[in-house]
Amino acid sequence: MSKVHAVITGIGAYVPEYRLTNAELSVLVETSDEWITKRIGIKERRILKPEEGEGVSYLALKAIENLRSKRDFNPLEIEAIIFATATPDYILPNTAALVAAQAGMTNAFGFDLEAACSGFLYGLEVGNSFIACGKYKKIMVIAGDILSIVTDYKDRNTCPIFGDGCGCALLEATTEEVGIMDSILRSDGSQPEILHMYGGGSKNPSSHETIDQRLHYIWQDGKIVFKHAVANMVNTCQDVLQRNNLSINDIAWVVPHQANLRIIDSVAGYLGIPREKVMINIEKYGNTSAGTIPICLWEWEPQLRKGDKIILTAFGGGFTWGATYLIWGY
Ligand code: UT7
Repeated sequence: MSKVHAVITGIGAYVPEYRLTNAELSVLVETSDEWITKRIGIKERRILKPEEGEGVSYLALKAIENLRSKRDFNPLEIEAIIFATATPDYILPNTAALVAAQAGMTNAFGFDLEAACSGFLYGLEVGNSFIACGKYKKIMVIAGDILSIVTDYKDRNTCPIFGDGCGCALLEATTEEVGIMDSILRSDGSQPEILHMYGGGSKNPSSHETIDQRLHYIWQDGKIVFKHAVANMVNTCQDVLQRNNLSINDIAWVVPHQANLRIIDSVAGYLGIPREKVMINIEKYGNTSAGTIPICLWEWEPQLRKGDKIILTAFGGGFTWGATYLIWGY
């Protein structure tokens, strides 16, 4: 491949220290370790305690620090920061700009991107396109959330699922046959009632009423989301494989969004990929939304080899979903 495109040249991540266990959740709502483990596959999730007084920019800065401890770079060379998050520090200013200032990436322009759990795939697509157009050479894609702030710890349908965490990927220009090769991204906003957090935006600005109505928490019809997630992740994975003349046997790793172990197992089953080639860490971190895929890549980084063909796939609020085909570059 002689066309310029982006390759991931470093990956970092950070999850908060505090572990919220199933036993602790069982005190807050009527649930049990057995139910959560069997129906969702989560044992614990990491939570950034509110008393720490930090936002998602804090997780991002820690993730960047982690990346730089393994693969250092000059922050002044970063030209753009794309921050995929549904839980920015503030509505204004954008979190990417805050991170740029604090990480010394003062030559970069930055913006936030909201695509819920599919945010990392959307961020990679935008970053890859910026690089492929020839104008940029080094871009930081950050993806992560603090879902604990929008989780209703009185709702047993949602509170066992979500956790906090963030990852980041350094994208650089290459003409080698490695990097982001293709992606298929989709969205469908025709059924917002199935998965939403309606409060705090321009339609339902924050007020005593929106708080009383619990509109600042995520609500979902889990069963319907589950079905959409499996079907759409499988379809986009199959489409991206076919479009690149690949069979599932060519793939070294599938990296699925970590929303429910049963969703992951169903997707793997339909794709026909053995479980040992599927990155799964949901039992430790739960669903960190945009953070799940970069956190998986970070955890499996020591096992990845240059040339490994990898499929990333996600589904989340919006709905948003997609599949990205990449070849690992180091
Ligand atoms: O990141 C993208 C967005 N989210 C997702 O991808 C999530 C997709 N959905 C799911 O993961 C699952 O649908 C859930 C984990 C949310 C729920 O699991 P489920 O197996 O679909 O359970 P269900 O909603 O069908 O409920 C079955 C039963 C119900 O009781 P009855 O009516 O049969 O008596 C629920 O009230 O399980 C009950 N239940 C619980 N019981 C103990 C629901 N949540 C809990 C709980 N503990 N935490």
